[in-house]
Amino acid sequence: MWGFCISTIPQKAHFTSIPKEENDTLAYGAYLVNAAACADCHTPVDDKGQPLPGMDFAGGRVFPTPMGTVRSANLTQDEVTGIGRWTEAMFVNRFKAYADPSHKAPTIHLREMQTLMPWTMYSHMKTDDLKAIFAYLKTIKPVNHSVVKFEPIKD
Ligand code: HEC
Repeated sequence: MWGFCISTIPQKAHFTSIPKEENDTLAYGAYLVNAAACADCHTPVDDKGQPLPGMDFAGGRVFPTPMGTVRSANLTQDEVTGIGRWTEAMFVNRFKAYADPSHKAPTIHLREMQTLMPWTMYSHMKTDDLKAIFAYLKTIKPVNHSVVKFEPIKD
């Protein structure tokens, strides 16, 4: 956390009207998103692996797997194709559902929905951390981009 803060403090302090507390939550959320590599998976890339401009968090990064093609979800604030309509509770619960000790990683059968999203690992994040991530994602500009999250291999 501190390393992040220090490296992002501008040379000349630049004050904004954002209340300090909210500012801290956003900075912390940004830090977590960065540390957990959310953007890496959730931003589509070109054939050289460079993030597509204007598509930050818009999903659709392609991951070929033996079962088929997995694509990351749109995490921007777009209300239709992203998570713009999600409430904080929905967001936190989407992660926490995997923290239930009775949750077993599903056996993957050929052609069934696959995910690479490290849900189980992230489900152990603190609720406040998930809330900070959610607050940060609220600041991501909406990008209308529908993603087919899984496409099974064809015969
Ligand atoms: C290894 C790649 C990877 C990383 C890292 C990753 N994700 Fe994902 N994520 C995916 C994929 C693939 C999907 C689509 C499949 C699914 O919904 O499980 C997804 C789905 C999601 C969804 C569900 C969206 C929906 O429309 O249902 C949310 C929310 C999400 N990710 C948030 C995050 C956050 C926040 C982080 C960082 C803490 C993160 N992801 C990191 C690959 C990743």
